[in-house]
Amino acid sequence: MRLIDLRSDTVTRPSEEMREIMFAAEVGDDVYGDDPSSNELASYAAEITGKEEALYACSGTMGNLLAFASVGKPGESLLTGTNSHIWTDEVGGFSAVTGLCPYPLNDREGIPDVSELAHANRADGDIHHPETTILALENTHNFTGGGAISPEKFAEVAREGRRLGFHVHLDGARIFNATVYHGVDVKVYTKEVDTVQFCLSKGLGAPMGSMLCGTREVIERARKWRKRIGGGQRQIGIAASAGLYALKNNIPRLAEDHSNARMLADLLQKGNVEVENTANMTNMVFFKIKSERLTDKEFLSFCKEKGLLLKVVGPRRVRLVTHMDVYAEDMKEAADIIIGLMD
Ligand SMILES: Cc1ncc(COP(=O)(O)O)c(C=O)c1O
Repeated sequence: MRLIDLRSDTVTRPSEEMREIMFAAEVGDDVYGDDPSSNELASYAAEITGKEEALYACSGTMGNLLAFASVGKPGESLLTGTNSHIWTDEVGGFSAVTGLCPYPLNDREGIPDVSELAHANRADGDIHHPETTILALENTHNFTGGGAISPEKFAEVAREGRRLGFHVHLDGARIFNATVYHGVDVKVYTKEVDTVQFCLSKGLGAPMGSMLCGTREVIERARKWRKRIGGGQRQIGIAASAGLYALKNNIPRLAEDHSNARMLADLLQKGNVEVENTANMTNMVFFKIKSERLTDKEFLSFCKEKGLLLKVVGPRRVRLVTHMDVYAEDMKEAADIIIGLMD
């Protein structure tokens, strides 16, 4: 039985064409700077984001961590939302590895309000307070519904962060979902930040990898940090060539994922499923398990029995993510399975 896998957009498998490109990739030792495919990917990533340099990281988590390690010092504060991936789902890495002290922001709307930043600014001369070095934003914002923050709102917050002297980092794991949603070039977002991390392995369909982009100086420090934490890999052209292919070919088709997610949300709503209302919805749909007779675990396993994989992300809260390996016709089937288990 074919499973409709809506757990995440990370579950995609490389297409035949992508595999052929990986097979033929020119490679060298990337720790020596000798991997032509990795170098080409880094130049391209820097060019499209309008940054001086870029660096390949094994994962989005590592890309974010490299940014924080390169610009923050132990005891300084990192401002980020309590619903951000950095706060909730990166195993506390920034605190464990860099010694940065987290400062919570309210990001229930996907991005903190500017008014919060002045209040959160700890570099206010008070001897008790740690210096604030970094403000981390996320777009699209995964755990509040995958919404694409608008260029205007994003710029307002990022500019205030910079005005207050923070290094502004964008966790842009899915930044291209935001650019496709709002119909803008990625530089519209990246020009507002000092560093950006984006993932090749999510909606873009590459099997692995993320890029960290920023100034030459920060990227050189990140390269050293990447080696320090064991992320210096050798013939990574195999992966980098897939990443470059994904960046050049798979951005516009994200619109298809968005329209599938919208279709799924509409079908579920018609079936009386309590779907979370998401402004600027991209490729994620969140809903509540209403059924009294099933636990979250039972709900998951019944869905699996019927051919649907999904992810419980909180008590009674389920996330569905569309991607390039699911199709419009799967949405009806997925909705029918969920609706059938809800009474
Ligand atoms: C918003 C966001 N940032 C970062 C990451 C981390 O990416 P990775 O799983 O490649 O470490 C994810 C992963 O889902 C994410 O959703």
